[in-house]
Amino acid sequence: MTTAAHDREVFDHIAPRYDVVSRVMTLGRGDRWRQASARAADLHAGASALDACTGTGDLALMLADRVTPLGEVMGVDHSPEMIARARMKGQATGRHCSFHVGDCTDLAFPDDRFDAATASGGLRGMDDPAAAIAEMARVVRPGGRVVLLEITPPERLRGIHARVLRMATPAVGGLLGGDARAFRHLAETVADVPPPERVAALMAHAGIGDIRWQRLAGGMATLHAGVVTG
Ligand SMILES: C[S@@+](CC[C@H](N)C(=O)[O-])C[C@H]1O[C@@H](n2cnc3c(N)ncnc32)[C@H](O)[C@@H]1O
Repeated sequence: MTTAAHDREVFDHIAPRYDVVSRVMTLGRGDRWRQASARAADLHAGASALDACTGTGDLALMLADRVTPLGEVMGVDHSPEMIARARMKGQATGRHCSFHVGDCTDLAFPDDRFDAATASGGLRGMDDPAAAIAEMARVVRPGGRVVLLEITPPERLRGIHARVLRMATPAVGGLLGGDARAFRHLAETVADVPPPERVAALMAHAGIGDIRWQRLAGGMATLHAGVVTG
């Protein structure tokens, strides 16, 4: 099985419990970080945005708040079960946002289709993060933003952080009635996220300029943003 197929299977499996476990992994700060990502996308009312690797759709729905009433947001994820949950949330909150099953390393959108593209937690566990970043840059018009948010090991606590995540995430997932092994994948892939300099280099290679990154909460997460030069 490829890494992508394994990842899709894991997310299908943990989808019903993903939101709670994600809250534990981010110590309750995930939505604050997603809001920072939505701000960094620099969208105005009426704009269009893509949320790649949207999962259960939280960041996509925050983007939708920013482009309402005439704008549009699309969320794409390769896990049908995560997308099903995103659709339920979208319907429950009444926000204008559509969710689609798809591969973010091979997006089914034309060039320059969106004003911005975001991804949160999308690069980890990916076979080819460079392809995903290149696709995000391709579908954003010149002048639009690409924003990437990842949970990252805090620099000074790298070893401890990895150990705590590796112990706590499967335990919490298991307590919630899930398969602890599936949740281990979530914790272990945090270590796969390329370092910030490497992410910035991949962005530059994809034709993104004015790249800035900031560490959030002492380095527990890193937010990259840049402008498509076209
Ligand atoms: C850690 S979750 C993040 C979900 C959400 N963005 C959030 O902020 O909580 C990573 C998501 O990326 C998706 N994913 C990973 N590789 C993908 C790919 N190549 N194409 C589409 N989705 C992918 C997974 O299915 C999963 O839902």
